[in-house]
Amino acid sequence: MFPATVYSDRRKKLRDEVSGGLILFLGNQEVPFNYPANTYSFRQDSNFSYFFGLDHPDLAGVIDLDEGKDFIFGNDVDIDDIIWMGVQPTIRDQAAGVGVENTAPLSALNEKIRLALDKGRKVHYAPPYRGETMIWLSDLLRIHHLELKANSSETLIRAIIGMRMKKAPIEVAEIEKMVDVAWEMHTTGMKMAKAGVVEREIAGTIEGIALSKCGPVSFPVILSINGQTLHNHYHGNTLVEGRMLVIDAGCENDLHYSSDITRTVPVGGKFNDRQKGIYEVVLNANLTATRAVKPGVPFKEIHMLAATEIAKGLTALGIMKGDPAEAALKGAHTLFFPHGLGHPLGLDVHDLEGLGENLIGYDNEVQRSKEFGLAFLRFGRKLQEGFVMTIEPGIYFIPELIDIWKAENKLAEYINYDVVETYKDFGGIRIEDDVLVTADGYRVLGRPIPKTVAEIEELMR
Ligand code: GLY
Ligand code: MN
Repeated sequence: MFPATVYSDRRKKLRDEVSGGLILFLGNQEVPFNYPANTYSFRQDSNFSYFFGLDHPDLAGVIDLDEGKDFIFGNDVDIDDIIWMGVQPTIRDQAAGVGVENTAPLSALNEKIRLALDKGRKVHYAPPYRGETMIWLSDLLRIHHLELKANSSETLIRAIIGMRMKKAPIEVAEIEKMVDVAWEMHTTGMKMAKAGVVEREIAGTIEGIALSKCGPVSFPVILSINGQTLHNHYHGNTLVEGRMLVIDAGCENDLHYSSDITRTVPVGGKFNDRQKGIYEVVLNANLTATRAVKPGVPFKEIHMLAATEIAKGLTALGIMKGDPAEAALKGAHTLFFPHGLGHPLGLDVHDLEGLGENLIGYDNEVQRSKEFGLAFLRFGRKLQEGFVMTIEPGIYFIPELIDIWKAENKLAEYINYDVVETYKDFGGIRIEDDVLVTADGYRVLGRPIPKTVAEIEELMR
């Protein structure tokens, strides 16, 4: 945990931005695996972590804006708990560690909320995303679970976004440590990427590195020689020469700061001409987009810059044709790059996404597109110092999508469908880094993970 003042300062800042009533943060509960006694690994809610730091299930935090007091509600362990889980610090001691003086058993939370509601005080809360939390919140507030989202507090959501989006140096340091562990995960994965190896041998090894060095992986490992499927979690293929292996994986630490890195390498360690051709296009898009990162630049503009570079590169390879800038504006590149350039990263891998993608990523100046491809851009608004973003362009040859576009002759003035046909067995390539927006530009976080053709071939040799 950070020092107690970090959490009390955060709560104080939040108090300044939300006026009247109380703010309720429900921590996460244990989630049963396939029967109650064994559960999934406990993962605290990120907003609770940010403002109240404690990493145990069944806690609630309340910031009473009118009284100017913070509370933690939770139960001390009893002898049954001690038998199964061991001795735990008291709630009072835990709360003191995050600068909270007022504690009460969980049963008192009901009373606190009831009294507030009876007096017509506003209870601010963020939209819940887990069933257990929805039931708890629904009972506390006496609101039907389907109404919880609509009744959540936009004032609170906007205040949280404003605070959590801008990472303090201590937070950046935590993210950076996780990129360093990702360095080990990815370089190990690259070295293992030889013909005859089954994907799960690599997936299991790199997940083990995360578990042995910090916390769990920050999202289920994406690892496949079928990288044309963007989030491919099937790990049963045997690696064969001629295929590219996409590894999209990161990890998180005790504080839950995370990394999210993608590398794509040729099975066997040597790029053939066709692989090198497409790889260099994605790498150029990654580097060009990264260099464009600085405060004040809309991320949507950087996304379109990457899209134009991809259109340029694919035109040079004969896969696309016509004017690349015009092709990108018309969305022709989305046949090959159908997703957004990246997303905020922090306590969540898709940071803050549970609060609502449009509230995080868009504003009055930059609105979300409805067009195929651009609509998947999770974040479009202007960058600010302290934001941490992923930059993750890719090129994918998705046979089913190619068939649909070709049958419609869609944007045929920009796409050489005959040439595209010859790439249907290619798979996909994505290259992703975690990038901090600095006062005058950017910094790619963590120990550099091999990325150029020469660096990858050297490492895999
Ligand atoms: N790395 C997974 C994602 O960005 O969705
Ligand atoms: Mn990502």
